[in-house]
Amino acid sequence: MSDLATGQTAAFILESLPEHADVLEIGCGSGAVALELMRRGHRVTGIDADPDIVASARKVGVNASVGIWPGFESDAAFDAVVFTRSLHHIQVLDAAIDRAAAVLDPGGSLIIEDFAFADIEPAVLWEFAQRLRQIESLNDEFLVRLRAAADPLAVWQHDHLHEIHSFRRMRNAVAQRFEIVRQSSAPYLFRYVPEFAAPAILAWETELNDRSIGRRIVAKLL
Ligand SMILES: C[S@@+](CC[C@H](N)C(=O)[O-])C[C@H]1O[C@@H](n2cnc3c(N)ncnc32)[C@H](O)[C@@H]1O
Repeated sequence: MSDLATGQTAAFILESLPEHADVLEIGCGSGAVALELMRRGHRVTGIDADPDIVASARKVGVNASVGIWPGFESDAAFDAVVFTRSLHHIQVLDAAIDRAAAVLDPGGSLIIEDFAFADIEPAVLWEFAQRLRQIESLNDEFLVRLRAAADPLAVWQHDHLHEIHSFRRMRNAVAQRFEIVRQSSAPYLFRYVPEFAAPAILAWETELNDRSIGRRIVAKLL
């Protein structure tokens, strides 16, 4: 994840953490967000299903281990359980949320940052594809197809309609077990582009407000 993307995600999470929080980050990837939270005085336990990624997170000093959520044993109670762009991948959604509830301290927070792929507006995607055309030396295969497409929505749907959860499904699963105390939209497409091009895409998406496809939830146990 780029520094810009990490900073945006960390700022959102930090708003909901008490001082010196014990945080469990599920799908921590290479540990960029965890490191940022640690720098702000929080203790982070990361788990990820991918052993190579866990090795890279450990290399930078994150207390990460291999685990496939919701299969994770812990006697500790956490002040926050965080999913950043990982919940849409986790197949057994209800069990994933139930387990998050089980490892949270009663006053703790469930914090989710994800995306609503099914809710993208064709006009927004079209504009994104146009903006991709202005980025030189783009070599991500998905982005190259997207910007060349006569119908960018068809490319988007083809690449996102595999086994990932819609935001509506994730939100409903959370609402069964938690009270959602905050829900907002956030820029997301800027995360796809190379770091040098991300600020301009982020500025454009910020102006889109609720038409952006990033989604953030903060929830408390019922
Ligand atoms: C799109 S990446 C996001 C990584 C990081 N949180 C970020 O925002 O950059 C999703 C991560 O979730 C992990 N993941 C997917 N399913 C998982 C599961 N059931 N348990 C733990 N990690 C999982 C993947 O290995 C991957 O590292």
